[in-house]
Amino acid sequence: MEKLIISGGQKLEGVIPISGAKNAALPLMCTPLLTDEAVTLTNLPRLADISTLSDLLNHMGVSIMIAGGSGGRAKGRSLTFDASNITDTVAPYDIVRKMRASILVLGPLVARAGEAIVSLPGGCAIGNRPIDLHLKSLEALGAIIDLEQGYVRASAPKGLRGGVIDFPFPSVGATENALMAATLAKGTTTINNPAQEPEIVDLANCLRAMGANISGDGTEKIIIEGVDRLHGATHAVMPDRVEAGSYAVAALMTKGNILLEGARASDMQAALDVLTEIGAVVSEEPNGIRVKSNGHLHGFHLTTEPFPGFPTDMQAQFMALAAIAEGTSSITEAIFENRFMHVPELCRLGADISVNGSQAVIEGVDTLKAAQVMATDLRASMCLVLAGLVAEGETHINRLYHLDRGYERLEEKLRFVGAKVDRVSA
Ligand code: UD1
Repeated sequence: MEKLIISGGQKLEGVIPISGAKNAALPLMCTPLLTDEAVTLTNLPRLADISTLSDLLNHMGVSIMIAGGSGGRAKGRSLTFDASNITDTVAPYDIVRKMRASILVLGPLVARAGEAIVSLPGGCAIGNRPIDLHLKSLEALGAIIDLEQGYVRASAPKGLRGGVIDFPFPSVGATENALMAATLAKGTTTINNPAQEPEIVDLANCLRAMGANISGDGTEKIIIEGVDRLHGATHAVMPDRVEAGSYAVAALMTKGNILLEGARASDMQAALDVLTEIGAVVSEEPNGIRVKSNGHLHGFHLTTEPFPGFPTDMQAQFMALAAIAEGTSSITEAIFENRFMHVPELCRLGADISVNGSQAVIEGVDTLKAAQVMATDLRASMCLVLAGLVAEGETHINRLYHLDRGYERLEEKLRFVGAKVDRVSA
């Protein structure tokens, strides 16, 4: 077991290169299942979740090769996926339990192979996280769904047909599954009330490059005209807006000045607006977004929402900021029902937070004090890193495997800008 030791109190200044987005890369890695030609993805982050999904694809007979022209470490990795010969349509429990996003193989696999059998997913423990919307959307495309012994079987031996999918509320994963499946369905599919996240648009861009006929992604209605087959393509994974937002919070908390190299403001406007309200000066530069402190940290109030609202994946990081902001802040989590697991750990560092249902009220304190803390899920782990960066003394963060699922070269990037962070064997 490894842990991070952070000596707080450094002002962070400099450039942090933003990696390819984990949450875009995972659905994109499922697109090769839709074609017998090779698909190359560039700017893939080196993360545990990417390896887990690679293992799953390998298990299904997809061959994965390092593609020529992989850039330096800052540019991410290029991989070519060849699913010309799918040998197994089962996604087994042992792989799926490590990562909920494994459910994203369901749609493309049933669309191309006529059958998919996927273990019910595990993943971050941030609530109940059902997959009913994924299943209903595939049923709307004519798939027959059975649940047996912890597995979902989706079958469509004669292929999927276009249909109307009405989501009661937007689900990112269900939209991605439906979008991929509908590309090969016969006829027109309409997805009403889909997720509008930038990762959906990135997925649609890749599918279009493969020959899919999609319009309306990023809006309240997506229309897909099914095609007989998709072909190979090369696509660059979009920059990680959650990683960028996390380091933006680090810049503000440490009263520093960081250029988030490669980040796109349009992907993260809601978070940038709150940062500005709190005390950041945010500017778009030709090669990224600069976030610097104006010397103040005002308390703030926010509620998580589907895109373009404030993202739930940034909620924990902003809680670390609220812990040291002046006055009272409040954060309401409206997407997941159990996403405050970082609160007790932040309180161990001296934060003053009370939780009532889906709302946390945070009274800002002058200083946080270092302690031993335990990372509980991916974004909660980053919240503790951020708190450690400003806490007096040495903060020890245990259980790093969550961080390694989502933040590429975390210590290295933080050290670039002046943080004192070490990874040691615990
Ligand atoms: C994705 C992101 C995750 C992010 C979340 C919300 C990836 C790999 N993960 O997760 O980081 O926090 O979007 O932005 O991209 N729901 C149902 N039934 C379903 C599916 C979802 O009730 O079938 C509910 C969920 O419990 C949750 C809400 O819908 O309350 C939104 O979840 P969803 O957008 O599906 O999240 P994920 O795709 O799992």
